[in-house]
Amino acid sequence: MKKKNHVLVTGGAGYIGAHTVIELLNAGYEVTAIDSLERSEIRIVEGVKSITGKEFGFHKVDCLDESAMEQVFATHRFDSVIHFAAYKSVNESVEKPLLYYKNNLGSLMVLLDAMKRYQVRDLIFSSSCTVYGQPDQIPVDESAPFKKAESPYGASKQLCERILEDVATEGIRVVSLRYFNPIGAHPSGLIGELPIGVPNNLVPYVTQTAAGVRQQLTVFGNDYNTTDGSCLRDFIHVCDVASAHVNAIDFLQEQKSAKLFEAFNLGTGVGVSVLELVKKFIEVTGVNLNYKIGPRRPGDVEKVYADPKKVMNGLKWKAKYDLGQSLQHAWQWEKKIRGLV
Ligand code: UD1
Repeated sequence: MKKKNHVLVTGGAGYIGAHTVIELLNAGYEVTAIDSLERSEIRIVEGVKSITGKEFGFHKVDCLDESAMEQVFATHRFDSVIHFAAYKSVNESVEKPLLYYKNNLGSLMVLLDAMKRYQVRDLIFSSSCTVYGQPDQIPVDESAPFKKAESPYGASKQLCERILEDVATEGIRVVSLRYFNPIGAHPSGLIGELPIGVPNNLVPYVTQTAAGVRQQLTVFGNDYNTTDGSCLRDFIHVCDVASAHVNAIDFLQEQKSAKLFEAFNLGTGVGVSVLELVKKFIEVTGVNLNYKIGPRRPGDVEKVYADPKKVMNGLKWKAKYDLGQSLQHAWQWEKKIRGLV
């Protein structure tokens, strides 16, 4: 029997990481996941095991910990790495920029160093559409220039991509996936996002309001230059985001070149406004949502959605879920964690 490819997933208990571990296991990969569990919980790892009925290696490791990372690489033989481990709150990054640079850049540096020493050459990196800032043209494609980042979080993603472009010359082959707005949860209802404290992101705020955890959702601004005045985004189901990572691993394995840096947008190509999303949530769940219009949130981009041509052709990938399904899955997960089902 052909040996299964072995993938290291950093941040494997995180929101996108855990959904990706499921896709990898279902596609027949051997997986070792690491996570500091600082911002996730071991029950997510258990959820992945019950969904797939498969075992995988899990170690509680912080990617900044060089000796623990050394141990991980010394005791396994990896074919590829998917690097999710990073902080992702825009607001928190504005308050604590050093924390964000140290964690998001530092963990990548430790990882790259270990990959070089152990000659693991294929890396999939979690990037974000935030690297574009407010693009001049939408839908935005991968050739759009990076604008000045609105936050240290955004700058950390831009800097990581720059580092990776340079490191590609040292024989590390990189696919950078620029996520638009991942939402939803696994259709089984067994895993999903676990926001810490008051959520910053729209969909967890919507579902927590619907569940009665928050009193009211504030829609940040209705005076933007969009059809209904609220911001426009490209919301994509987390399982669709996850499945693209499997395609990206396959893509890298097919490449002959010893050096490669390729970025792909990971979005649906459909722009949806915040108010449209709110209405869709009410429509598909039948739950009434208490919301009001408030002032704009500083740092928000008016409108951004993906041109997904490159990822559809290059990675032979396409989003499967629509907005209604994504919101239903997000709601199902919220009800589960609140004990409402
Ligand atoms: C941001 C980042 C993105 C990152 C993501 C993960 C930017 C431009 N984008 O996305 O790269 O991957 O966070 O954390 O930095 N909204 C409300 N009320 C709320 C919450 C949000 O109206 O209570 C609105 C926001 O104003 C925005 C939209 O919903 O227009 C989406 O917001 P959010 O879910 O926070 O994601 P982004 O800011 O788009």
